[in-house]
Amino acid sequence: MWKKKSLLAAIVVALMMALAACGSKSKETSSPSGSEGEAKKKIVVGTDAAFAPFEYMEKGKIVGFDVDLLDAVMKEAGLDYELKNIGWDPLFAALQSKEVDMGISGITIKEERKQSYDFSAPYFEATQVILVKENSPVKNALDLKGKTIGVQNATTGQEAAEKLFGKGNHIKKFETTVVAIMEMLNGGVEAVITDNAVANEYVKNNPTKKLKVIEDPNNFASEYYGMIFPKNSELKAKVNDALKKVIDSGKYTEIYKKWFNKEPNIQRLGQ
Ligand code: ARG
Repeated sequence: MWKKKSLLAAIVVALMMALAACGSKSKETSSPSGSEGEAKKKIVVGTDAAFAPFEYMEKGKIVGFDVDLLDAVMKEAGLDYELKNIGWDPLFAALQSKEVDMGISGITIKEERKQSYDFSAPYFEATQVILVKENSPVKNALDLKGKTIGVQNATTGQEAAEKLFGKGNHIKKFETTVVAIMEMLNGGVEAVITDNAVANEYVKNNPTKKLKVIEDPNNFASEYYGMIFPKNSELKAKVNDALKKVIDSGKYTEIYKKWFNKEPNIQRLGQ
């Protein structure tokens, strides 16, 4: 009898030890800094990975400038995270419903968006540009009058087009920037208004498509990208602290040079 009991006890102890070992292992991998006690949950970050060079799919993985920057910032902050490709419009819905904890997606910090979301400090300066076929007569934004313009839905490209020419079906809205560009290649729209680095990247990667980028600083202002959060998110302060460290340490410059082959103008982010 005594023997049976102690055998049982030994089994129970062994099981408990095995369970404890599992527990501590998963804790180790899921919370590197481990300062907040209880198993910290992974932060879910949403993106629309059809916006090269900021975020796009390559061999089944999300890659890009934003992806590298996010990784550096989250490592600096000691936060464990998972980046999910959920699409542009769904990203904003998911932030509203708090299905995601934050987003990074070349998102321009705008007063109107600030009503519903919080933003990190600016991490990238951009502007809208016009993407047209090489033989297009368009020279500046005003030349687009009366032409059909493709934009990604609910972007600052759409906003810029509507500001110039009003709302209406001369502006065709697409789910992704890539689809808007394809539509131009197929003759469905005459021009696309999108972010400068994205237009430049497309032209560079698709020389046979014979496209060109037209800048027009008189009609397109500077924009600044920020990481986005649901309103009053506690994450924002941690991310901002880490972002500042990533910028000050030179890590930001390293990532910027990797993707853009030139030095960033960090001063301009300070505004
Ligand atoms: N910067 C523009 C905006 O905020 C376009 C961003 C689109 N980003 C994307 N991943 N599709 O409206």
